[in-house]
Amino acid sequence: MTAPGLEILLTEEEIESTVARLAAELSTRFTDGVVLAGLLRGSVPFLSDLVRAITIRPLIDFIAITPYAPNTGRVRMLKDLDIDIVGRDVVIVEDIVDTGLTTAFIHGELSRRSPRRVCVCTFVDRPARRVVPVELDHVGIEIPDRFVIGYGLDHEGRYRNLRVLASAAPEVLAEDPDAYVGALYPA
Ligand code: PRP
Repeated sequence: MTAPGLEILLTEEEIESTVARLAAELSTRFTDGVVLAGLLRGSVPFLSDLVRAITIRPLIDFIAITPYAPNTGRVRMLKDLDIDIVGRDVVIVEDIVDTGLTTAFIHGELSRRSPRRVCVCTFVDRPARRVVPVELDHVGIEIPDRFVIGYGLDHEGRYRNLRVLASAAPEVLAEDPDAYVGALYPA
């Protein structure tokens, strides 16, 4: 598989073992039960694997927010949790934490509802882009400041369903968003 600027950061097997480790961490920590709150849409592949690897019985729910407006930093909730989290342990499940703005916003929102505890589990952490400090309780992989696709992470809606995590060249994608399709989706 060759394409300019493309590099596999995690293979399918490495993703599997990373998810297994995170599932074991959560299963050990939340023996009294937990609400897994997935952020739409990027967290879906990770959450889906995570819940099937976990050995406790989690409740699953979803949150969707609007993207951050570039200059104002304002967001709003498009879809809130349906589950009442009063007195419960909640884990925010993210595909990636970048600036931290999304996680900080959701953490703040959920913390106001008197849960027992709000934690964060992210598959990817890219700390080089952090704008606000956030505490990440469970992290799959920390990556350098590179653009990544696959396993939930997209470019213009593409590449989310890849079974690998890959770094890609933004300038190549800017020219042709489908530039990596041939290499990553072999016929
Ligand atoms: C991505 C990702 C996180 C957020 C992290 O979502 O899924 O939710 O960005 O970025 P931050 O730390 O800089 O706030 P995106 O808005 O791209 O939506 P998506 O999940 O639908 O891809």
